[in-house]
Amino acid sequence: MSSVPAAVLVVFGATGDLARRKLLPAVYDLAHDGSLPARLYVVGVAREPLGDAGFQDLAAEAIRVGARRSPDPALLRALIEDLRYLDGDFSDPITYAELGRRLRELDDRHGASLDRCFYLSTAPAFFCPIVEALGAHGLHRAAGADARLAVEKPFGSSLEDARELDRRILAVFDERQVFRIDHYLGKETVQNLLALRFANQLFEPVWNRNFVEHVQITAAEELGIGTRAGYYDRVGALRDIVQNHLLQLLSLVAMEPPVHFTADEARNEKAKVLQAITPPSPSAAVRGQYDAGVVGGEPVRGYREEEGVAPGSQTETYAALRLEVDSWRWAGVPFYLRTGKRMPRQATEVVVTLKAVPHLAFAAQGSIGVQPNHLVLEIQPDEGVSLTLAAKVPGATRAMRVRPVLMQYLYGAEFPSQSPEAYERLVLDVLRGDPLLFPRHDEVEAQWRICDPVLEAWADDGAPLARYAAGSQGPDAAARVLRPGHEWRRI
Ligand code: BG6
Repeated sequence: MSSVPAAVLVVFGATGDLARRKLLPAVYDLAHDGSLPARLYVVGVAREPLGDAGFQDLAAEAIRVGARRSPDPALLRALIEDLRYLDGDFSDPITYAELGRRLRELDDRHGASLDRCFYLSTAPAFFCPIVEALGAHGLHRAAGADARLAVEKPFGSSLEDARELDRRILAVFDERQVFRIDHYLGKETVQNLLALRFANQLFEPVWNRNFVEHVQITAAEELGIGTRAGYYDRVGALRDIVQNHLLQLLSLVAMEPPVHFTADEARNEKAKVLQAITPPSPSAAVRGQYDAGVVGGEPVRGYREEEGVAPGSQTETYAALRLEVDSWRWAGVPFYLRTGKRMPRQATEVVVTLKAVPHLAFAAQGSIGVQPNHLVLEIQPDEGVSLTLAAKVPGATRAMRVRPVLMQYLYGAEFPSQSPEAYERLVLDVLRGDPLLFPRHDEVEAQWRICDPVLEAWADDGAPLARYAAGSQGPDAAARVLRPGHEWRRI
């Protein structure tokens, strides 16, 4: 049985997309694996007048559709029976008075104070009103137990905005109670990056400016924006993916080894990397937007034709940047970041390209194809690690012909049991109060400091919005951010 303390998880926005697609299925999968606390109560809070039974039906359906495990009927029934629902307006004090009453009732039923985890899965406009109301009703503390706050992204829309959000949250909760969600950190393969770097002697000696030519971090999606135009058209690719997921990946690739793997030591090292990045000049950033094209053999419409997108929208669906980490280890090494919707396929990867060998003795004999070594950490869809090596092409002639070959390890082949979903790990860490995988406020602010100047330049129309056909490699203009001799890896 799990050693996680008994808790109540209060999900604000419990009928929304994220709760249905990710949170409720994650809670079931954790229950299925026996990872939940011996007692976990879930209280959903949202505006719809559903009642407990309505919410229980919604949750059961969400779990059937979204859980990784095929639901066990008895377990599902037991979990669902303990779900409670509170319909209320997030800005109405009555909602919080009623929530307080329900929490006390659950404490009484349990015979002791339960840990309280408030999960904000709402539109960002509600974050501060909810936090302040929790504070005003004294729900941010629990005598004899812990209270925690999990906040979904987007965490602000600029540095100033994020600071204001932090100021208001930290006026109620202490930093140690706040869990900012960046779901990339919950992915197994993202954590595997740390194992690769810090549990192998092989890579560390070359993991620096003397051996690394450049690093490319890509999050390409085949999908468009689906039904999320209302959110996406105001946000764009830089805020949606680069500011959080890609910069977090960069910080894991570039951080110094912490002495201990504790939350604060690891986050200190990540924060140092982010603080050592100078915001890119406008010429080191390119934005693009997709036109109609073909993805996966199907014709798809252009971004401006998507339902809910403003006709002349200037929102970028693709962003590419060149960054540098001004530190002893990384000075002068370009880190290229890119993300795009409606790319030819889904590919999230980190590619570390080593410098070319300094001298090739057999150059004249046909080793034209010799390439620098690439270490590819594939995060999705096929989790694994591969390394390109130069190998001799078989043949008895005296000529030494060399070409790249691939040494590959696939996570799924080595560990056949399915990896947990990112949200399973993150929900569990919130319940057990382990902040390691949650960006701290200084990291989030450093991420905005890097992105703000680019966003400002783009808002002033200081850079053209390049076009790309859906299903293509992205705008040609993306090549502009690369140093001479470098190329984007084909997606
Ligand atoms: C989210 C973004 O944070 O990450 C989405 O808001 C994006 O636009 C998603 O599609 C990608 O996540 P994943 O886990 O599918 O790579």
